[in-house]
Amino acid sequence: MSQLPKFSSKAFLAPMAGVSDPALRLLCKKMGAGLVVTEFTSIHSIIAKEKQLKKNQKQICEFIEFSEDERPLSVQLFGSDLKALAKAAKIVEPFFDIIDYNMGCPAPHITQQMAGGALLQESNLTTMIFETLVESVNKPVTLKIRAGVTSANRFLFKDIAQIAQDKGIQMITLHPRTVKQGYSGYADWSLIKELKELVDIPVVGNGDITSPEIAKQMFESTKCDYVMIGRGAMGNPHLFKQINEYLENGTYEKSSLKQKIGIFFEYLEIATKFKIRFSNIKGQAMSFTKGINDATKLRGKITLSKNIKDLESIMYQAYSQY
Ligand SMILES: Cc1cc2nc3c(=O)[nH]c(=O)nc-3n(C[C@H](O)[C@H](O)[C@H](O)COP(=O)(O)O)c2cc1C
Repeated sequence: MSQLPKFSSKAFLAPMAGVSDPALRLLCKKMGAGLVVTEFTSIHSIIAKEKQLKKNQKQICEFIEFSEDERPLSVQLFGSDLKALAKAAKIVEPFFDIIDYNMGCPAPHITQQMAGGALLQESNLTTMIFETLVESVNKPVTLKIRAGVTSANRFLFKDIAQIAQDKGIQMITLHPRTVKQGYSGYADWSLIKELKELVDIPVVGNGDITSPEIAKQMFESTKCDYVMIGRGAMGNPHLFKQINEYLENGTYEKSSLKQKIGIFFEYLEIATKFKIRFSNIKGQAMSFTKGINDATKLRGKITLSKNIKDLESIMYQAYSQY
């Protein structure tokens, strides 16, 4: 069992399906993220894809795209069939530095297949999942969880975390909302503090960080080892640079709207090197225009854009206005 790699920053980019594509990850990495994680991937789709790819002597990394510059890079898996889990983990192991396991996704199509957040109330199955993963691969295995399923059992994370530590999981990220909560209300950071007091392995605090000040508050109030940022980094990869500066010097350089939109062109240039869906690229463009006055018209144009060239010229018009 190898150990966790060294992280260049205490701020990580969260896995976000449809958002944390290889271009956004690379950009966040360049801007100072200590770790980036792939969008979650089904163990069954990995196995099916590998069969298909093998016929053409291609490798799974053509399905889960990434670049070397993202390292250290974590791949996130979901799915609870133990045989498939072992097989999928072995397939991805050579390409990634960390194998992360998803036990937080609240989407019904995931929880209904006994995966994601639904597993929080299945401690026996979870124990077998951790054993299977840790025994199947030599790379470090980490875990991302929510607090519980409903508010009545919002402390389920404690049992799961204890089992995880006992079975050799090397780091736990807690997004302290319940599955039922989805993204509503607030993340209850006091639960991150409780987790940090409970386990000896590193704890990553996650939830509602949108600025360097808030990141620092999370470190101070929970004593977590690392923070993970999701929505706050959408259209704002610069946040990692700002957090690093703020944690080091107590100040940071604010970015103008023009700079923010400008970074989108960097995103676009990287994105064209990968097979990212155009609808996802448009979604990124929307995020990069957050904060623009009267953005409704611009958003309408983005939605109607037909190709990258179109989108680029729409964004350039917006950029020129600042
Ligand atoms: C669009 C979107 C997609 C997400 N996809 C994933 C995912 O694939 N795996 C995962 O563990 N969490 C996923 N999450 C949850 C985030 O990783 C994170 O835990 C959550 O957004 C809370 O952090 P934040 O407040 O910084 O956004 C997703 C969140 C969003 C908004």
